[in-house]
Amino acid sequence: MNAYELVAGKSIDSLRQVERPAKELGAHEVRVKLSAAAINFRDLMIADGNYGIPAGQVVVPLSDGAGEVVEMGSEVVRVKKGDHVIVGFWPRWLDGQIAPEKISAQFGAGPDGTLAEQLVTDENALTIAPAGLSFAEAATIACAGVTAWNALFVRGGLKPGASVLILGTGGVSIWALQLAQAAGLRSIITSSSDEKLARARALGASETINYVKTPEWQDEVKRLTNGRGVDLVIEVGGKGTMKRSIEATRLGGTIVVVGGRAAAEGAAVEPGVLIGGAKTLAGMMVGSRQMQEDLISFIETTGIRPVIDRSYAFADAPAAFRHAAKGAFGKVVIDVG
Ligand SMILES: NC(=O)c1ccc[n+]([C@@H]2O[C@H](COP(=O)([O-])OP(=O)(O)OC[C@H]3O[C@@H](n4cnc5c(N)ncnc54)[C@H](OP(=O)(O)O)[C@@H]3O)[C@@H](O)[C@H]2O)c1
Repeated sequence: MNAYELVAGKSIDSLRQVERPAKELGAHEVRVKLSAAAINFRDLMIADGNYGIPAGQVVVPLSDGAGEVVEMGSEVVRVKKGDHVIVGFWPRWLDGQIAPEKISAQFGAGPDGTLAEQLVTDENALTIAPAGLSFAEAATIACAGVTAWNALFVRGGLKPGASVLILGTGGVSIWALQLAQAAGLRSIITSSSDEKLARARALGASETINYVKTPEWQDEVKRLTNGRGVDLVIEVGGKGTMKRSIEATRLGGTIVVVGGRAAAEGAAVEPGVLIGGAKTLAGMMVGSRQMQEDLISFIETTGIRPVIDRSYAFADAPAAFRHAAKGAFGKVVIDVG
């Protein structure tokens, strides 16, 4: 079968198309003929050697993919031939609280990933794709979609009518915007681009702020919320945005710490602003299969169609990685089938 390999720490330039032998199936394993795979910032971190994978390790990249079940081991019960399935981010985190053994493996970071024509995996790693979505759309769910779901409704615990500040217009953020809109939340979203902010408004953003033109954007968030601040921030900026995000949060509110996309200013967070504001900084890592199934139900009920900035042919995978590195509006997907 055709696949790509990437050398951890050797940059996107190390991506190579290769021919690999098809794997044998174990009793609880399923062969998925992949149709689409999606890129996450994690995959760029692996390429750049910033993800804790030993430099020089060769991986079949990407965690996220969707396709069709073509073969099953003798004991498989969760799926059947012909099912359209999504590959989960944490194959061992099925339900409940996060725990070390549940996050001990992830596709494309050791176990072979989804930038290949086929994936052989334990049946537990799979969920049935939402009815009505294309494979490309379904491929965006497992990492970015589940992260946004967990951040808003599980870790973040938001209720309808609450307010959320979303930073930037990347994969997690646009998923969060779509979920917020569908759930009746008030969403304020930032971007470096007015054109992207116009697209965010078209998706239902309540208010938008250009963080380049308004570098003190936390003041604008406070102004928009009558001085109160938002209930929750989805923090994807990291060191470069954390202090402002905390300031933009209401008394007793939560900052869900998701990522580090902003250039780091290195400014330390003063404990006093959390204590005096009774604010919670909550780290998180994607989510469980149960969260993915809850999200899939929500997608089917609300009719959300995930935003794909661009889909690339398999042969153009390196160009897809470069697009993602520049910063896409929503997701970058690769057509694998
Ligand atoms: N903890 C978890 O569970 C988890 C899961 C998924 C992702 N992550 C992390 O979350 C982050 C986002 O992931 P992603 O896949 O959504 O990334 P992405 O698609 O690559 O996000 C790119 C966008 O980030 C925005 N950005 C960059 N600097 C910014 C700043 N100073 N302020 C606001 N926005 C800024 C830009 O938006 P504009 O172009 O609109 O300016 C850019 O287009 C990454 O650090 C990733 O590693 C964590």
